[in-house]
Amino acid sequence: MAVLEILKFPHPVLRQKAEPVAEIDDRIRRLVSDMIETMLKAPGVGLAANQVGVPVRVVVVDLSVGEDPDARLVLVNPEIVCGEGSICMEEGCLSVPDLRENVTRCSRVVVRGLDLDGRPVEVEGEELLAVALQHELDHLDGVLFIDHLSQLKRSRYVAKRKKLLAEAAG
Ligand code: NI
Repeated sequence: MAVLEILKFPHPVLRQKAEPVAEIDDRIRRLVSDMIETMLKAPGVGLAANQVGVPVRVVVVDLSVGEDPDARLVLVNPEIVCGEGSICMEEGCLSVPDLRENVTRCSRVVVRGLDLDGRPVEVEGEELLAVALQHELDHLDGVLFIDHLSQLKRSRYVAKRKKLLAEAAG
């Protein structure tokens, strides 16, 4: 296993729509174990493959951040089949440094996908898990949580980030 580099906004791969996984082979299995290690090291509660530069439809979620093996979810080609209710929670993202903002999303979702053995899985998530699943699945479509903020908040962040990067570049 290896800790991978997490791409940061505005890296273009974060905006790419990820491709479905055609076959769960050793490459995908290695990617998933690296993603889990990267997520736990960060630490974070979820990670999508395009955040580590691989634009394929794979996400990992672990609300326990490694404390509870049963909390770990690996979803290949996941899709939201049902979303309902509404919840507003503060979100952050490993790819969007120095920002935490409230986002309104569905309070309950059902997600279908495949596990690492290629078996169909269905995950039902409420509240924090629902939010995490929607956040990670958004990544696979090139959507970041800042896209759910007001235009003003988003452009303020983009400007701040550009300035910081320009300063870092000298
Ligand atoms: Ni994120």
